[in-house]
Amino acid sequence: MTRPKIVAVDGPAGSGKSSICATVCKDLGWSYVNTGALYRAVGLLCLDRGLSLVEGPEIKKILEEFSESARWEHETARLFVGVDDVTPRLNSVEAGNGASAVAKMPMVRDALLPIQRKLSLSAPKGAMVDGRDIGTVIFPDADLKIFMTASLEQRAARRLKQLEKTGPKVDLSHDDVMKAIALRDDQDSQRDSAPMRRAEDAVLFDTSDMDVAQAIANLKELLRSKGLV
Ligand code: DC
Repeated sequence: MTRPKIVAVDGPAGSGKSSICATVCKDLGWSYVNTGALYRAVGLLCLDRGLSLVEGPEIKKILEEFSESARWEHETARLFVGVDDVTPRLNSVEAGNGASAVAKMPMVRDALLPIQRKLSLSAPKGAMVDGRDIGTVIFPDADLKIFMTASLEQRAARRLKQLEKTGPKVDLSHDDVMKAIALRDDQDSQRDSAPMRRAEDAVLFDTSDMDVAQAIANLKELLRSKGLV
């Protein structure tokens, strides 16, 4: 069986990875795999069960359940745990904080590694896989690696807009969000286990001065220039 084309897209929160990749994939008939959703779902499962976010047997149990019951719907980029569509809950601040805490745990990263590979490799055509360690750990042999970034200011503005649009009413200033993102960047890039970093062979894609439409067009052009579409 031939393997689908895999494009690894890493980069910090708010760089535009999810909205840009989701649209490009929709237009190309590719699958968009948002690996942050898996960390967010595990974080939420822990919080729902009142667990403190430290490695231990309870989290191991949650990971076993999750490995058996998580399903990614390629057509809609929605995550199901059993029959529950958990997608609507994944964008909350709570889910993001839970995700960041569990993402530090080697036990969690080890359990989610095969899931990320399996989900991506089951894509019917090609997959853009978005995360923090996709080009370095999950798919070091990806057909293309992209490191997507943007200035801290821009990323905070986008995150605030997204929170206002998708979540319950938020009472956060641009400054609050900027501080939260800077903290998240630090946590993601300084953790011991699979820290976020640009793979040596990743193309740098800086969206600071691009609007969404330009970023989508530029990303498609990049895929064309690499012979992937
Ligand atoms: O991309 P996101 O904001 O949904 O990610 C949520 C958290 O999960 C963030 O702290 C980074 C972490 N994460 C990770 O460590 N590795 C991934 N492949 C994806 C997300």
